[in-house]
Amino acid sequence: MNICVTGGAGYIGSFIVRQLVDAGHRVVVVDNLCKGHASAVDARAQFVLADCGDRTAMADLFRRQGVQAVVHMAAFSLVGESVTEPGNYYRNNFVASLSLIEAMLSAGVKRLVFSSTAATYGEPADQPITEEFATEPINPYGRAKLMVEQALADFVQAFEIGAVSLRYFNVAGALPDGSLGEDHDPETHLIPLVLAAAAGRRDRISIFGDDYPTPDGTCVRDYIHVLDLADAHVRAIDAAQPGALKVYNLGNGDGFSVRQVIEAAQGVVGRTIPTAVAPRRAGDPPVLVASSAKIARELGWEPRRGLEQILADAWAWHRSHPDGYAD
Ligand code: UFG
Repeated sequence: MNICVTGGAGYIGSFIVRQLVDAGHRVVVVDNLCKGHASAVDARAQFVLADCGDRTAMADLFRRQGVQAVVHMAAFSLVGESVTEPGNYYRNNFVASLSLIEAMLSAGVKRLVFSSTAATYGEPADQPITEEFATEPINPYGRAKLMVEQALADFVQAFEIGAVSLRYFNVAGALPDGSLGEDHDPETHLIPLVLAAAAGRRDRISIFGDDYPTPDGTCVRDYIHVLDLADAHVRAIDAAQPGALKVYNLGNGDGFSVRQVIEAAQGVVGRTIPTAVAPRRAGDPPVLVASSAKIARELGWEPRRGLEQILADAWAWHRSHPDGYAD
């Protein structure tokens, strides 16, 4: 198929592009490089520097390239920033998605895979989280992603398009040879920061709160390898059926606390990582663990890599690219 990946120069997008090309698809990446890295884009894909929220330009590109499916990854993804800059998040993550969907409609593109998030659930009391749980996001990031899902439910009814929304839990890891990985500025995610502390590039890793109602008092998350996550997108393209919006969680189903992640990282890197307990970070739910039973049942997807592999691959990336991508 001819597939357009928006945000294909970003961390997760770059892995999806690679796996789509491996699966035999022809891929055109659209990215405005406000966060992404041109050098992360697979050389076998075509790269177009553009804004995916530009409806006219995107419809034109879809027609010219004969695009048959869109994987929409382009988005801002910092929960804290979404609280202080809500306008940017509603505009970039919701309004731009709406324009993109309308560009698809005008060019006759019928399949969409949408990058959604566990943040759509808010702070559920029970775990593991299934897709039937109430969606009660507690920040603009989660709300904007949920708004796109809600709009998609209306669009698939009104037009003969099919959409799959994938709700990611905590994505981490890299290619095992360290050639493709995570490079955010600023970096806020636990695993890259833990490894930066392990490498001596940061003094210590701050543990944001140790008084949560969890076994060791630190927050529990479900970490999923970016390669497993990308594999689900390849399957989701085929699963998009006209008239339906399908929603799936993507996680490993295992919860690890912040302290457990640090301990596992110490085992992988073979040295002690300095830590310091810091105040809670606003908006962090105590526990988020996915049930991915639905996507296993319906699409035959199962994660194949656990926390140790995630850490080992992220470490390989960190050692070979201590400063991230050259650009
Ligand atoms: N953490 C620390 N110290 C740090 C960084 C993080 O203790 O220096 C903790 C956080 O408080 C949290 C856990 O490590 O408990 C994981 O934090 P991340 O920032 O790595 O990931 P989040 O769980 O906050 O965010 C992820 C995705 C978001 C998504 C969110 C849904 O990265 O895109 O889950 O809640 F919105």
